[in-house]
Amino acid sequence: MDRTLIIVKPDAVARGLLGEILTRFERRGLRLAAGALRSLDEATARAHYAEHDGKPFFPRLVEFITSGPVFVGVLEGTEDVFAVVRTMMGTTNPKESAPGTIRGDLATETGENLIHGSDSLESARREIALFFPDLA
Ligand code: RTP
Ligand code: MG
Repeated sequence: MDRTLIIVKPDAVARGLLGEILTRFERRGLRLAAGALRSLDEATARAHYAEHDGKPFFPRLVEFITSGPVFVGVLEGTEDVFAVVRTMMGTTNPKESAPGTIRGDLATETGENLIHGSDSLESARREIALFFPDLA
């Protein structure tokens, strides 16, 4: 049984899409092992997205993810659950995301693409330890 981290981003929470997004994962057979609404401070946001530090979009990304409440959760399921979640999210740029994916059905802009999911088992371990140290 693998675990992965999701963040339902401020745009999704503000648009009232938290239930819809969690429902999709639950209907797929994934289980919420932990979760909470949080407002991320700048240090946590920078640590979470550290791999992007120095890229042109990094300041805007940190500003966006700290702009309002998010839902941070741990999903548990089949082997490689991170990959299942990533497929369900759709591509980073929602304009290219397939219909049926969260971004492909509900978003249009890269800067407001509703959902984060860990991109590997290693990322999942690091991110779960950052947000839910008791689970790690
Ligand atoms: P996430 O980490 O949030 O799950 O998104 P992702 O893996 O699909 O995309 P990633 O490459 O990790 O980028 C993180 C977030 O930064 C914003 N971004 N903007 N070229 C750009 O303007 C650009 N590239 C990335 C997006 O909001 C992306 O979700
Ligand atoms: Mg990413």
